[in-house]
Formats: sequence, C-alpha cells, structure tokens
Amino acid sequence: MSIGDRRTSPRGWVRRLAVLMLAVAALGTVGCRQDMQDQPYYEPFEASELFDNGTTNQPLPAGTVARGLLKEDTHYWFGRNESGQWVETLPAQIQGSRELLERGQERFEIYCSVCHDSSGSGRGMIVRRGFKQPQPLYEQRLKDMPLGYFYDVATNGFGIMPAYSKQVPEDDRWAIAAYIRVLQLSQGSTVDELPADVRNELHEALAADHGDSSHE
Ligand code: HEC
Repeated sequence: MSIGDRRTSPRGWVRRLAVLMLAVAALGTVGCRQDMQDQPYYEPFEASELFDNGTTNQPLPAGTVARGLLKEDTHYWFGRNESGQWVETLPAQIQGSRELLERGQERFEIYCSVCHDSSGSGRGMIVRRGFKQPQPLYEQRLKDMPLGYFYDVATNGFGIMPAYSKQVPEDDRWAIAAYIRVLQLSQGSTVDELPADVRNELHEALAADHGDSSHE
C-alpha cells in the first residue's frame, strides 16, 4: 500500500464536505425540534420552586367564582329569597303567560308525568310498575306550599325522587313549577270558580251533550 493511496482526491474532499454540511444541517433541525418540544413554560403539575407548595398548580383564591357562574339572584337560581325562604312568585326574568304554562305542561308531561301522572295524582306508569307512589300534587299540603318549593323539588329532588337540574334547565323548571299550580287548580275547584265566559261555555256544552243523549 503506497502513501499515494491514502491521499484523498479533490473529489473525495468535496464529498466529505457535503456529508459534513448535511450532518450540521441535520443537527440544526434536531436542535430546533428539541427547543419546540421543551419550551420555557410550566406545564400543569410541574415541579416549581417558585411557590411554597412546590408545584405550578396553585389553589383558587377563596371565593373565586368562574365568570358567568355567580348565582347572586337566589330567587331565580334557588327559588328562595335572600333569607332562604321559598318565594311565592315567579322570578322577574320569567314572564307569567299562557306560553309559559304551555311550556310547563309539555315539560311536565315529558319529565314528571311518568311518575306523577298527567293529572298529578301520583299514579304514573313508573309507579304502576312498582316505584314509590308520591302524594297527589294537588293535595292541600302542597297547595299551601310556595311556588319556589316546586322549583326546588324539581332542582334537587325530594326523598326517593331524583333531581332534575341536569335534564331540565332553570327556565323550564320555573315553567313546570307554574304548571303544577294549574294542576292544583284543576282538581277540586268548583264550576262557580271558573271565569264567567268559560262557565257559560261549559253549561252550553253540557246542555248540548244532554240534548244529544236524550235523543238516543
Ligand atoms: C321516577 C319517578 C318520579 C319522577 C320522574 C318525578 N317524581 Fe316527583 N316524586 C316522586 C316520588 C316517589 C315522590 C315522593 C318522594 C318520597 O316521599 O320519598 C315525589 C315527590 C314530589 C313532590 C312532592 C314533595 C312533597 O313535599 O311531598 C313534588 C312537588 C314533585 N315530586 C315534583 C316533581 C316534578 C316537578 C317532576 C318533574 C321534573 C317530578 N317530580 C318527577 C317520583 C318522581
């Protein structure tokens, strides 16, 4: 083997240089990737000497409420006044109207009648299949309860009855509460308590009905 063999030709040098430059370029990209992956910010639960508890996770300051979740209006959110008593009226933002009662009826039929029955008697299908029978919603004790009580029961449940705050939003729970008053009025009221025009309509309908059946 001669010395001449070990000398590198000019072409060989060019190739070596190219390989070297490629290696440097590759190193450069790797370095860049590492930088992106490991950025100089703290991740959740990362150790940190900056805080007394030794972690980047810090407890919320006492009394913190997420934006939009401050439930200051106890009437609307809890059916209670500021001293914690159930309210007798609808909250200011819920308009008492025929539409409200119709919405309440629809929601009651969907969520409550399965146990309470459409009339509120407490003999809904689930009860007929063995669930505990609730008292009629139109019994005197419940007639005497403030409106906020029904909103509260729909929100938090009562005894064995589950809460409905997850399935039924606030406005609809108020609509249902208002509709329970309709059910209470519909049971045990006398014809004389009806408005005059409705009373007349009823009398006419009854008279017509009577007339029909007498022909048979
Ligand atoms: C799965 C059956 C079931 C459904 C659905 C249900 N309830 Fe009840 N509810 C009950 C039972 C059972 C009781 C009696 C609970 C007890 O005594 O442990 C009750 C009790 C009540 C009471 C009376 C509380 C009292 O003081 O006696 C109200 C008011 C009421 N429910 C409202 C509602 C409303 C409003 C809905 C619909 C959003 C609803 N319930 C849906 C089963 C149900």
